[in-house]
Amino acid sequence: MTRHIQRPWLSLQPTDDPLEPTGRTVRWGVVATGGIARTVARDLALLPDAALHAVSSRVHERALAFAREFGALRAYSDEGARPGYVQLVEDPDVDVVYVATPHGQHYEVARAALDAGKNVLVEKAFTVNAHEAQELVALAEAKGLFLMEAMWSRFLPGMLRAFDIIESGEIGEVQWVSADLGFPAPKDPASRLWDVPAGGGALLDLTVYPLLWAVGALGFPDSLTAVGKLNDAGVDEQNVLTLSYSDGQLASLISSLVAHGPRTATVAGTEGVLTSVGSVNNPTELVVRRGWDPARTEKIEVVGRGYVYELREVVRCVQQGVLESPTMPWSHSVDTMRLFDGVRRQLGISYPNDERG
Ligand SMILES: NC(=O)c1ccc[n+]([C@@H]2O[C@H](COP(=O)([O-])OP(=O)(O)OC[C@H]3O[C@@H](n4cnc5c(N)ncnc54)[C@H](OP(=O)(O)O)[C@@H]3O)[C@@H](O)[C@H]2O)c1
Repeated sequence: MTRHIQRPWLSLQPTDDPLEPTGRTVRWGVVATGGIARTVARDLALLPDAALHAVSSRVHERALAFAREFGALRAYSDEGARPGYVQLVEDPDVDVVYVATPHGQHYEVARAALDAGKNVLVEKAFTVNAHEAQELVALAEAKGLFLMEAMWSRFLPGMLRAFDIIESGEIGEVQWVSADLGFPAPKDPASRLWDVPAGGGALLDLTVYPLLWAVGALGFPDSLTAVGKLNDAGVDEQNVLTLSYSDGQLASLISSLVAHGPRTATVAGTEGVLTSVGSVNNPTELVVRRGWDPARTEKIEVVGRGYVYELREVVRCVQQGVLESPTMPWSHSVDTMRLFDGVRRQLGISYPNDERG
């Protein structure tokens, strides 16, 4: 029996020019000044109809430095009477708030932004648990605001091309998927990656990407088995998930904060196999082998650092008054957090935010 998998991302074509303007200028406010905020601010500057209006940081100097470097007009910080992010979400000239804090703070900041009537892009993993994810989605829907998890990979030309190939039937019916993402993260206790309240661990930080391949090729699974290694603080250093499907298909996903992995995704079908070499979250080289034929390799070009595609989607949705991206729907974020809740129950991982539910 053929499994029906909804792949809405196929609606976007890899040939779409990500730098083509799509309408009025959309003004952005960025919450936090860390690694991804900086990378995304650089790609935002490439879009002709997006403008960085404001930034907020816990620290005044950091907000000012970020604003100077990336050309934001306003810099807010916790050194005023109210937290910087609260001031930013209340700025009437901000159309979209980009939440680039650690996972543990996503819900609080995104909720404040929605309450203030702002459209929101929230970094991955969307939240810490499914309860938070459902609450944010319900709030966006009730208030008629745009909300999306920043799963940039879902918009990338390499990912779109991979799923075009799978959809074309070239590799036949998918029977299994394997994907991994890993690197040894410095064991710095101050790093969000090892901090429990920040939502530290491989699951929230990395597993969203290998999971994207399994979900894209086979959908969300019917059952799941997780094994992992937790450190003394209860943070998962690495985990392996085995997903099973009622039609017999399988997926094996590895995420690690203690070892380099090949960062490869393989989708194996009855007629052939597709592999994304070298990058599981930003495919730039796809190798396809049909049957016993020699493999062919497709090279993929990416504009900027690859974030322009998701940023353009946000801009386009806000311009058009669309609340939910058809390419990265709310259900994907909520179902992912439900699946992660199940993984955490099996591994014995809990976060302070869980107690709020
Ligand atoms: N899409 C991607 O490719 C990608 C890549 C990396 C990370 N991410 C995601 O982006 C988020 C941030 O990751 P990152 O690597 O940028 O982390 P990071 O470098 O540690 O930066 C996080 C920033 O958040 C603020 N922050 C830190 N602790 C906070 C707290 N307790 N409360 C409020 N704000 C706090 C800080 O900014 P201030 O000091 O200015 O307040 C900090 O610089 C995570 O959810 C992560 O999964 C996504």
